[in-house]
Amino acid sequence: MKSQIYNQAKYYEIAFSFVDAKKQGDLFERFIKKYGKIKVESVLDIACGPALQLEEMARRGYRTIGLDSSSQMLNYLESKASQNGLKIGIVKADMNNFQLSQKIDFAYIMMGSIVYTKNNDLFLSHLKSVADCLGSGGLYLIENLDINWADPKFWKKQTWTMKQNKIKVKTTFQLIPKNLLTQVVMQTIKLEVDDNGKKLEFVDSDEVKIVAPEEFKLLIEKNGQFEFVGFFERESVKLLKAVSSNNIALLRRK
Ligand SMILES: C[S@@+](CC[C@H](N)C(=O)[O-])C[C@H]1O[C@@H](n2cnc3c(N)ncnc32)[C@H](O)[C@@H]1O
Repeated sequence: MKSQIYNQAKYYEIAFSFVDAKKQGDLFERFIKKYGKIKVESVLDIACGPALQLEEMARRGYRTIGLDSSSQMLNYLESKASQNGLKIGIVKADMNNFQLSQKIDFAYIMMGSIVYTKNNDLFLSHLKSVADCLGSGGLYLIENLDINWADPKFWKKQTWTMKQNKIKVKTTFQLIPKNLLTQVVMQTIKLEVDDNGKKLEFVDSDEVKIVAPEEFKLLIEKNGQFEFVGFFERESVKLLKAVSSNNIALLRRK
């Protein structure tokens, strides 16, 4: 994918700096404690971007690896880690087809980045890549997008502005239906930046596929390498009883 915004790691990080990495680190550890079957020493952040959560996990003493297809994101992450005295390994790879030289104990993908599997074949190949590097009993946590397209809010433009020092970033996010039979939607993310008075604009428009919960479970079954642990509300490790469009999914390597 040729991306404008994922080549702007610093501005991307400011745009999404509402992420509470400490809270998410706590949530990961609660999932590991409740559902994991192995001792977790190593952690993989898939489609890691500036990886605020991975920095938090490195601070907590885990061996950490960030995987992304954007060199700019990975270079940015590496330089932040070295400035902050953190040891974070980086891997430049396509999340839909990768191999790691070492096994890892816990993997996650945040912020709806699972949409970058783009179609069911790539989704299956993504699952195989993750399964092949995850130790038996290890967990894979997927923070899904909220995918309730029956709700008009799903299609509504969202905008927010974040500031850091003298840099202001206004973000616009919108999904537009492309082909609802194939569940393909157009995702547009725009960053309007005011960097010390210098005005810049970056836009990505990308076709992505929305995977519905029942389809998601069937794809996990078809892959065959994971147990489906369940869907969860955000910020909770309590299993959801009813299907929800807004969920975190948890898989455990067989
Ligand atoms: C929405 S950002 C998420 C960043 C970070 N995980 C977070 O929670 O803020 C998506 C990231 O996915 C990466 N990405 C997109 N397609 C990818 C692919 N096929 N393989 C690996 N990384 C990919 C982008 O470079 C970007 O850093």
